[in-house]
Amino acid sequence: MTTANPIRRPLIAGNWKMNLDLKASVELVRALTLAVPRGFQGEVMVAPPFTALTVVGEALRDSPIRLGAQDLFWEEKGAFTGEISASQLKDAGCWSVLIGHSERRRIFADTDAWVRRKLEAALKAGLIPVVCVGETLEERESQRTWRVLETQLKGGLEGFAPSALAPLVVAYEPVWAIGTGKTATPAQAQEAHLFIRKQAAALYGPAFASGLRILYGGSVTPENIDSLMAEPDIDGALVGGASLKADSFSRIVGFRSPAAR
Ligand code: 13P
Repeated sequence: MTTANPIRRPLIAGNWKMNLDLKASVELVRALTLAVPRGFQGEVMVAPPFTALTVVGEALRDSPIRLGAQDLFWEEKGAFTGEISASQLKDAGCWSVLIGHSERRRIFADTDAWVRRKLEAALKAGLIPVVCVGETLEERESQRTWRVLETQLKGGLEGFAPSALAPLVVAYEPVWAIGTGKTATPAQAQEAHLFIRKQAAALYGPAFASGLRILYGGSVTPENIDSLMAEPDIDGALVGGASLKADSFSRIVGFRSPAAR
């Protein structure tokens, strides 16, 4: 389980969070389309704010870069002011959706039970779900990292048919590394990714686990991407700040892959 699995195509995703107006969004994806290295064997995605999904989708029409959303609500339609459904995201051209980002959990009180319902809705609509997990600094310092990850994974992922869950992507984003410039070391990230893969094996078996893509997120930059991607259980990155500039994000997409990958 510790050797990089060729089935796991690298995925580099940019989470724009609540940044960029429409003009800047379109300019960024136009520049990215030109800058993303030719022959890249993996997948690249950008997740703009909801208001920019359609214009960014238009700008990406002939580009291999995929469109993602930052969140969704599990109901199909109805009186849910301010919310967006999975089918609306599909209709807007989305390929994927982030679920349970730590900012959603911390600021908007998303729970593991909500993550599970959102995951179910995303799968039903044919969106690639990227479920985010990660511990806070306090949890890490009090040796609770593994317990927190286990609770988040079980709470969010338990009870699906393994075949239904096949498109799942998990993102390990230690909260203390998000937007702080304090990246997890490759060894710390690898240790957590391996733990997540073992949890996935416990839930759904070794074949499922060895095909599961696990992304690292938290202060990923052009400077640290190569050493992160050299780890056998790191299958890609979920990038915040450095995804807002075409030059830094395209350098991350063009990470120098170890020969084995
Ligand atoms: P930064 O890359 O800005 O630390 O953000 C990470 C993140 O939260 C991506 O979802």
